[in-house]
Amino acid sequence: MELRSHLVLLWWLWTNIAVAENGLNGWLRYASVGCNQHCYRALPSRVVALNSTQGSPLGTATEELQTGVHAITGKRLTITEDDECSRPSTILIGTVEDYRQICRNSSTIPALDIDGFWLRTQGNAVQILGQSERGALYGAFEYLSMLAQGNFSSVDYSTSPHAPVRWVNQWDNMDGSIERGYAGSSIFFANGGIVSDLTRAKEYARLLASIRINGIIVNNVNANATLLTAENMDGLARIANVFRPYGIRIGISLNFASPKALGGLDTYDPLNPSVIAWWGNITDSLYERIPDMAGYLVKASSEGQPGPETYNRSLADGANVFAHALKPHGGVMMFRAFVYNQLNESVWTDDRANAQVNFFKHLDGEFEDNVIVQIKYGPIDFQVREPVSPLFANLYHTNTAIELQVTQEYLGQQCHLLYLPPLWKSILDFDLRVDHSPSVVRDIISGERFDRPLGGWAAVVNVGTNNTWLGSHLSMSNLYAYGRLAWSPTADSVEILQDWIRLTFGRDQHVLDTITDMSMTSWPAYENYTGNLGVQTLTDILYTHYGPNPASQDNNGWGQWTRADHYTIGMDRTVMNGTGNAGQYPAEIAAVYEDIEKTPDDLLLWFHHVPYTHRLDSGKSVIQHFYDAHYAGAEAVQKFVPQWESLRGLLDTERYEAMRTRLVYQAGHSIVWRDSINNFYWNLSGIPDENARVGHHPWRVEAESMHLEGYRPYAVSPFETASNYTSIVTSTNTTIGTASTTLKFPSGTYNVGVNYFDMYGGQSKWSLYLNDKIVGRWEGNSEDILGHTPSIYLDGHSAIRITFPGIKVHRGDRLKIVGVPDGVEPAPLDYVVFLPAGVVD
Ligand code: GCU
Repeated sequence: MELRSHLVLLWWLWTNIAVAENGLNGWLRYASVGCNQHCYRALPSRVVALNSTQGSPLGTATEELQTGVHAITGKRLTITEDDECSRPSTILIGTVEDYRQICRNSSTIPALDIDGFWLRTQGNAVQILGQSERGALYGAFEYLSMLAQGNFSSVDYSTSPHAPVRWVNQWDNMDGSIERGYAGSSIFFANGGIVSDLTRAKEYARLLASIRINGIIVNNVNANATLLTAENMDGLARIANVFRPYGIRIGISLNFASPKALGGLDTYDPLNPSVIAWWGNITDSLYERIPDMAGYLVKASSEGQPGPETYNRSLADGANVFAHALKPHGGVMMFRAFVYNQLNESVWTDDRANAQVNFFKHLDGEFEDNVIVQIKYGPIDFQVREPVSPLFANLYHTNTAIELQVTQEYLGQQCHLLYLPPLWKSILDFDLRVDHSPSVVRDIISGERFDRPLGGWAAVVNVGTNNTWLGSHLSMSNLYAYGRLAWSPTADSVEILQDWIRLTFGRDQHVLDTITDMSMTSWPAYENYTGNLGVQTLTDILYTHYGPNPASQDNNGWGQWTRADHYTIGMDRTVMNGTGNAGQYPAEIAAVYEDIEKTPDDLLLWFHHVPYTHRLDSGKSVIQHFYDAHYAGAEAVQKFVPQWESLRGLLDTERYEAMRTRLVYQAGHSIVWRDSINNFYWNLSGIPDENARVGHHPWRVEAESMHLEGYRPYAVSPFETASNYTSIVTSTNTTIGTASTTLKFPSGTYNVGVNYFDMYGGQSKWSLYLNDKIVGRWEGNSEDILGHTPSIYLDGHSAIRITFPGIKVHRGDRLKIVGVPDGVEPAPLDYVVFLPAGVVD
């Protein structure tokens, strides 16, 4: 074959192998690093696993090493059955204890905490010793991660986890749906039971073990008592069997009222002897099936969930009934601090942010020592910016864990790129200064600060059956980073990210730089075009938690109030004039939040109620900051599209295209956000934008201003989510609509954007014409593609933009859009925008 044919064949192989990348292997792709002869020779040739049994974490580690090294380097390792410690060219893997006994060499072993490991690579001699088999498995994944990133250097280090509890929570329902999940249905449940095919569960276990997660709660905190039928307990045992070889223990969420709802008792009073016995029996039955069960998670007395208050019992009584049942089996009881009552804004000082401390502080010391109180990072609910939950500083005699969210419930639902570690670190690195001493959140949750034996981490992850796991390839950086931070919270966000990029997309420098830049821009950008200055995210909290609806924050019982009126905005949480929330923090921190001059701008509206004209540290007024930030945020994410497009050819086609679709969508939806929030506060305050952008859209043609046939104007609600507050819809659900106009823009080349609404329950079709020549067609099918919670209305969730680039337009051209409705979706249109190069309107 001549050289050219070789090259063609290689190119064909490369592109076709690359096309097979669908995200299922996440960061464990083990892509070839092109190991040359020199590197090949320098690698070990065999694995000696000390005392390994099949189905144990050590057995898993051995198989993973064999598969991984072969895929990454092309070298096939033999597995040696004997326990020979000094063979050359070997990966020796085992527990420290076995190493001591079998190899009789203990002089050099560094001290390891539970689950820790020691990794030493010297040429073709590799030694991986774990404090436990689980630790050895972590060491194997670490070694493979090095090789997969092309790192063949000699290393010698030991590492141990920051905290013993490193769990994930799935909010999976028994019918197979997932609360706040954006990537398909459950990999565990369907039709009220446990699925028979647990292949995806095994693949999930592998991903989680590689980031050193050691526990998983498999069902929703809003739990269904039927999980505890004998048949379902058998199913849970099957799940546990799948996770065990990966060193991961499973646990479950419980419904507090189960003794009554399922057990046939007439009470679920946690101090009633029959209830205590019932939970004891259930727990014993579970441990018979799952001897290593991790424990329970309970959401009680919150958002309609039953709890001990029904019987005038305390939350500690509630938690302890489970703790007692678990204790003989060594199980852990995670009890959620997310407890609050519905409120009435006419008594605005009844502050939801105060709830956790009010409910838990006086119970400090009353929880059993196998109880961990699981605390969301902020006082309210996974918002784009919150102060640290003050509860972390109010429990000295109680184990605590932090609860993070990998699933982006309020943060773009995996349809907006948001790399979360910088947000998490704003919490983890925060020093609460309890008793005027260093009290960094990460040291509180590890148990170190208050000398507690237990503690750690939980993250709501919510993977689903979608091949991408979370709905978007780039969202997987958050799951990866969660595991890395739970092991080592001082690790650097960029370093973690870059490891993930190399493992997920390869080692090209431009790929690395581009995805790093986009990811590190993403949180500030999202905060900018959603809710600024600590006002909260401003999503619709009464409906999907997705698109903009600032009015939904106020005048209801959920207590996520902004108290915005014509002149002022923000929650006064001071002790002096407000809800007293600032006083829940230790004195040094309280002094900062109490004082408007000292409160950082990014939490100003969390702690203070101010006029829109209040001047920030930056010198800008609050309202002008809103306007400017929203423009800056939306502008930042417009750049994601060309940035990503610069990676064309450097990534496999499937993942490249899937991400491009999302980033184009995000660019459009960020403009929906920008305009909605700006319009809303401009209307409320009456204060115009100093830079005359808000309400001025020179490059738009409003649909309602066009000549309409079969279409009629429609006043959108919330008003601010449509340009000029109005869209058009077809006059019936079967009428084809036409909107046309003569263009007055200067002749030139434009990117033509069309803003429309894509509702759930219909797939309308639109066609765009210039002078009766078709320029573009599209369909309202994003509910099948994007994965965010859809909407059945015309609103900020269904508002969407499609862009047709590089269209030549002449002054006087005739623009026409034809909309064909479908189902309940009346082909809604908001506006058409003609964007000259560099303009974002
Ligand atoms: C949020 C979320 C709910 C969830 C709750 C919780 O409010 O929207 O879906 O049940 O948190 O954490 O329990």
